[in-house]
Amino acid sequence: MHEPLELDFSVKYKHRIYFTEGAFGVTNPILSQLIGSSKVLVVVDVGLITAQPALLAEIGAYVLAHKLSLTRPPYILTGGEACKSDDKVVQQVLSAIEADKICRHSYVLAIGGGAFLDAVGFAAAIAHRGVRLIRMPTTTLSQADGGVGVKNGINAFGKKNFTGTFAPPVAVVNDTDFLSSLDPRGRRDGLVEAVKVSILKDADFFQSLEGQTTELAKGDKTILAKVVHRSAELHARHIAQAGDPFELGSARPLDLGHWAAHKLEVLTAYRLSHGEAVAIGLALDITCAREIGLFSAALTERVLTLLEKLGFNLYADELHLDGGRPLLQGLEEFREHLGGRLTLVLPKSLGVPTQIHELDAEVIRRAADELKTRAAR
Ligand SMILES: NC(=O)c1ccc[n+]([C@@H]2O[C@H](COP(=O)([O-])OP(=O)(O)OC[C@H]3O[C@@H](n4cnc5c(N)ncnc54)[C@H](O)[C@@H]3O)[C@@H](O)[C@H]2O)c1
Ligand SMILES: [Zn+2]
Repeated sequence: MHEPLELDFSVKYKHRIYFTEGAFGVTNPILSQLIGSSKVLVVVDVGLITAQPALLAEIGAYVLAHKLSLTRPPYILTGGEACKSDDKVVQQVLSAIEADKICRHSYVLAIGGGAFLDAVGFAAAIAHRGVRLIRMPTTTLSQADGGVGVKNGINAFGKKNFTGTFAPPVAVVNDTDFLSSLDPRGRRDGLVEAVKVSILKDADFFQSLEGQTTELAKGDKTILAKVVHRSAELHARHIAQAGDPFELGSARPLDLGHWAAHKLEVLTAYRLSHGEAVAIGLALDITCAREIGLFSAALTERVLTLLEKLGFNLYADELHLDGGRPLLQGLEEFREHLGGRLTLVLPKSLGVPTQIHELDAEVIRRAADELKTRAAR
């Protein structure tokens, strides 16, 4: 018999996020410097190309000007939640990586919404056990939250993000010009993640959001860009500096409102976007926090009012579906996804989060009832 070997090792990551405009303008050096003379497979969300058809010519001009080695013309694939509903897009990207001989020193450049980045990122993470990925998020939500994180994944077994990995990208390039073609719904979606992270981490940011609801609801580009930037920064700093980037513990400290949101997305067959579902989940969690005496009634009202002023509905019938049983099942699925003991992050005050390990079904029911009554007013 031998003693067990226990060898510690650690791997250093650098999380690089660039904030820019006109990333494909020929004078913009960011992408060119990142990719250099390596091979690159460019994959693009079809929804983005439909909204911004001129983008393909811009990419073409950039590639010529910077002599980038594209393995093929930009590969346009399904985006939106549809690309996470099965493994078709993942397989298409894997096939392209194989056919184009993308190796671990080449790049996949993924350009699209959060769902697209999740699916393409998953393919990049499992091809050759991980090829280099550069993400270009093109929605407010992905620029403010998902796209600047380190996770990817697709849905399976009727559960969000069941199949996926933690795989930090080589870099993220947030280009605010992409946001110009979003409709009001798409533009609004990302704001909810800004509200969420402000409640958890930054009371001043929350207050500034309260002061800018008119401009944000109107889609003011400069203010939107500032909000997206601050939200992205808070998310990325948390990932890099809070000590658990790959969520090995039982808590997901940024997932306020998300247990209900993920369940609502599935229960509504994705009628609700992720952002819309998070708004309801956030309202539910905050109301629960007040019900259990954690969060004050005045702050609760401020959060709900802020979300409403930004244009979010805070109720969906699915909260009460089948007596609320599927919703409660969402809480158990959330626990199962993380493993270990149920751990929910709720605020005690603005910018002051805490963890709880149980949430009574009756409290959740009361909160859902209240949101229903409020929505009917
Ligand atoms: N990996 C993570 O850490 C993480 C975090 C948060 C959210 N997410 C995931 O992100 C997804 C939601 O992402 P989303 O809100 O970006 O929505 P989305 O990716 O579903 O995109 C919404 C729609 O907008 C289109 N689109 C993309 N860019 C556009 C543009 N610039 N102009 C016009 N249309 C455009 C897309 O084709 C799609 O039809 C969910 O699946 C969610 O689970 C992942
Ligand atoms: Zn989210």
